[in-house]
Amino acid sequence: MFTSSLRNVREGSAAAQAGAGTGLLAGRTAIITGAAGPNGLGRAMARLFAAQGAQVAILDLDKTQAADAAVDIGVGHIGLACDVTDMAACEDVVRQLDTRWGRIDILVNNAGLTQSLGVMDIEHHNFNAVIDVNLRGTLQMSQAVIPRMRTGGKGSIINLSSIAALSGGTVFSGAHYCAAKAGVLGLTKALARELAPDRVRVNAICPGFIATDFTKARLAPGMLSDILTGIPLGRAGAPDDVAGCALFLASDLSAYCTGIEISANGGALIH
Ligand SMILES: NC(=O)c1ccc[n+]([C@@H]2O[C@H](COP(=O)([O-])OP(=O)(O)OC[C@H]3O[C@@H](n4cnc5c(N)ncnc54)[C@H](O)[C@@H]3O)[C@@H](O)[C@H]2O)c1
Repeated sequence: MFTSSLRNVREGSAAAQAGAGTGLLAGRTAIITGAAGPNGLGRAMARLFAAQGAQVAILDLDKTQAADAAVDIGVGHIGLACDVTDMAACEDVVRQLDTRWGRIDILVNNAGLTQSLGVMDIEHHNFNAVIDVNLRGTLQMSQAVIPRMRTGGKGSIINLSSIAALSGGTVFSGAHYCAAKAGVLGLTKALARELAPDRVRVNAICPGFIATDFTKARLAPGMLSDILTGIPLGRAGAPDDVAGCALFLASDLSAYCTGIEISANGGALIH
């Protein structure tokens, strides 16, 4: 039901955008990391933000995939290569976008990496890779945009954490991923406090079980029905369910929210 109401928002606002340039994000610019995959959460957010009037930059590891994704969401968007674990790359793309747009309003730290490993199987390189993309990448992209948002006197940073940070994980996530995503929540709260005087809001989303290529590829036979019995709403989440939460946090609808986390998990974790 939520997905179909989002579809209405998308269609309605696309029409509005074609007309008067309105929409919840009209005139705003948004950077979304890790958004090149056709069925991931980042692409769903990019599509919805574009339909709501934002100019969107899709960042991902592969330049061609990022550029194709930008074309897919409509005219006037841009796709760039950026490895969020590389601080120089983060600063470089933000410099390019600042030159192009003259302002940066929204950053979604969506790029992520998960590995399902038991604790004794987590090696040094596993830990580094998962911490680097999920936690260091979130810090570094935030550091790259914060000076511009401060200058603009306003901004919204949205960090993708996970139900794993709150519950201790699932079949899809090892302890290092849980720790990285819990770190993202701590980072979110600290940045929210530090940046509030600059009117830069920082919030997090904790998705539960969302049907993406990643989760579908790892579902053994019979697993889905087991997972669904633990979800009171009785279905897997869709990328659009998470995109709707991101739109709320990106827009002025959430103007008085900072340092919060929104759980999008169908009731799988009610506490
Ligand atoms: N799918 C779920 O059920 C779920 C649940 C909870 C949290 N999340 C989180 O939501 C976010 C998106 O998840 P998804 O399912 O769409 O994942 P996904 O694997 O489809 O997308 C992640 C994207 O990040 C990109 N990426 C990886 N390393 C990168 C790097 N160093 N620099 C830039 N980009 C990089 C990948 O190329 C990919 O396009 C992730 O942070 C994930 O941890 C997802």
